[in-house]
Amino acid sequence: MKNRLINIKEEALNALSSVTDEKELNDLRVKYLGKKGVITLSLKRVGSLSSEERPEFGRQVNEVKKILEEGIKAKKDELKKKASLDEKKDFFDPTLPGERPARGTLHPITQVMDEVISIFTFMGFEVAEGPEIESDYYNFEALNIPKDHPARDMQDTFYITDDIVLRTHTSPVQIRTMEKESPPVRIIAPGKVYRCDSDISHTPMFHQVEGLFVDEGVSFAHLKGILKIFVHEVFGRDTALRFRPSFFPFTEPSAEVDVQCVICKGKGCRLCSNSGWLEILGAGMVDPEVFKSVNYDSEKWTGFAFGMGIERIAMLKYGIDDIRLFFENDLRFLKQF
Ligand code: FA5
Ligand code: MG
Repeated sequence: MKNRLINIKEEALNALSSVTDEKELNDLRVKYLGKKGVITLSLKRVGSLSSEERPEFGRQVNEVKKILEEGIKAKKDELKKKASLDEKKDFFDPTLPGERPARGTLHPITQVMDEVISIFTFMGFEVAEGPEIESDYYNFEALNIPKDHPARDMQDTFYITDDIVLRTHTSPVQIRTMEKESPPVRIIAPGKVYRCDSDISHTPMFHQVEGLFVDEGVSFAHLKGILKIFVHEVFGRDTALRFRPSFFPFTEPSAEVDVQCVICKGKGCRLCSNSGWLEILGAGMVDPEVFKSVNYDSEKWTGFAFGMGIERIAMLKYGIDDIRLFFENDLRFLKQF
């Protein structure tokens, strides 16, 4: 009798622990504690026992009954709690702060481009534009670079046909502007240019800003003054720059301007090929041959022009030692600006 009661208790508690919903729980209650339940029937049997056995057995049945009732009540509370948690999961709380969408930023090249443009527009230059797919005439010929001229090898050109190229520099915008406007002219021409070239300071696509100033009495001193102001605006007043004699078919005399390497502070490093300087632009006085091709009177007008590399300026400004980082589009890199 006693063993049987222990079995019933264990069986019931086992079943109780695997109950997952209210219906199962109710079925279990009926099975053991209902009118015809196992425990209820056991209690009824007490009457048929001898008077010595009766009290002890009665006590034991009542104890099992109590354990089961408590177990069922605890399970009921547990199920209720779980149900209310499930309900909360779907609950929308309009007072909680929203999730912020990830915000993009301007590409560092765009930022530097905007800064360069604003420095020159502040000095009175207007923005001009020209096509990236350019004719041989504007990219070379009108700039005093005839077909067989060795200077064509200075720039590794992407040819589309014999007469159409991806522009290798922004200088063709000089010609397009002067064809349309008579002097005085004071423009900058920002844009993309293309060359078959790639290493730590060269990419096949990069950005230039062209400058052109034509008026009466414009001299090399004006060019120097403007570029010095520009370099000091972008890099700070204590930045060293130098003018190095150079050659371009469309300017005479010509110069290239270097800025002291910010990475090594002039000591020499990988970026500046151990020279301590990094070239940022080419410049010079507009060659009379160029004026001839746009019908400007070179006896009356003089002018200067320059063309700068925006990536180079960005590298110096932010201390970046490999130009290709700008175009890998790695967000970990781009998010720093
Ligand atoms: C020119 O492109 C001339 N048109 C500049 C010029 C304009 C001279 C007007 C005189 C008057 P150059 O090839 O040196 O020059 O390029 C100018 C600048 O572009 C360089 O100083 C450099 O800063 C940048 N640059 C040149 N090639 C690359 C390249 N592959 N990748 C990134 N930047 C470059
Ligand atoms: Mg150069």
